[in-house]
Amino acid sequence: MHRSVIAGTGAYLPERVVTNDELAKRIETSDAWIRERTGIRQRHLAGPHETAAMMGAAASAAALKDAAATTRDVDAILLATSTPDQAFPATAVRVQAELGVLHGFAFDISAACAGFVYALSVGDSLIRTGQARGVLVIGSEVYSRILNWRDRTTCVLFGDGAGAVFLRAEESRERGILSTHLHANGGLGDILYVDGSVGQPDRPGHLVMNGKEVFRHAVTRLAEAVDEALAANGLSRTDLDWLVPHQANMRIIDSVGRRLGLPPDRVIVTVDRHANTSAASVPLALAEARQDGRIRKGDLVLLEALGGGLTWGSTLVRM
Ligand code: UT7
Repeated sequence: MHRSVIAGTGAYLPERVVTNDELAKRIETSDAWIRERTGIRQRHLAGPHETAAMMGAAASAAALKDAAATTRDVDAILLATSTPDQAFPATAVRVQAELGVLHGFAFDISAACAGFVYALSVGDSLIRTGQARGVLVIGSEVYSRILNWRDRTTCVLFGDGAGAVFLRAEESRERGILSTHLHANGGLGDILYVDGSVGQPDRPGHLVMNGKEVFRHAVTRLAEAVDEALAANGLSRTDLDWLVPHQANMRIIDSVGRRLGLPPDRVIVTVDRHANTSAASVPLALAEARQDGRIRKGDLVLLEALGGGLTWGSTLVRM
């Protein structure tokens, strides 16, 4: 049976690091408030040359190298972003050109912070149905360009970066993506959104969030999502080796970890150093934990994310 195996992971973070104290010089906030409410200590912010395509291509090149794959192995490129370089062509197509991939197809997926989990589900489907044997799945974001830097309730929470995985079709009963579950509730579109777009005259748009409401839904929906993933696979909480959660807020991450009965050292955390990088947060965390040797071949890993839409979902994978 064809399974989508995560054969390689890669990451790119902008060079510029901005601490909470640096932000506190420009806006009315403090390191103590940001740390206590969110766990964030710093974030990477993109320079002018660092776009979603540029960062996505860099993370993808690293993922291909990690998988010992070449551009000839890439049949499809799926890129999750809410901050594309242009309305079109898709940022995924820009990445295709940047990498020098000369065949196959590429498109973007828009599901805010759940974008990577959505893209992984589509990539897995392409492999299972035989439409592709090698798929790059990328999350790449430059939220610094859609933040309202005068709104302290949102601008301290986000950072920029990109993460990528290379999915390879393998005949395997053990390894690979075991399940994906996606959800959306458009009725909650007004609690986290961007108030403009390239299609609107004179309104590029800024991120707007009702943090308390999003927090409340995140804790409930993500708890349901992890239970759903385990039940669908006939697994129990003790079978899990790692949780790789969306990195929005340490308090949300802790609550999902507790729900799963996982000790904190089995939960991958990057929010302290990356802040919330939206669709890039899960692949960045996964890449870090694979690169430093924590997540190993054979480990059972649960990925989950929730974001604007609302959109949310999970992926259960045997590495
Ligand atoms: O990735 C997509 C999903 N997004 C999320 O999951 C985010 C979910 N939400 C959250 O993480 C939290 O709701 C926040 C971190 C955004 C906010 O935490 P909170 O505990 O809900 O704080 P709050 O909004 O209730 O604000 C508490 C106080 C307010 O002051 P008053 O009204 O109590 O006097 C705010 O004005 O903190 C004030 N405040 C700040 N103070 C210093 C808000 N932002 C700041 C700030 N610095 N940056």
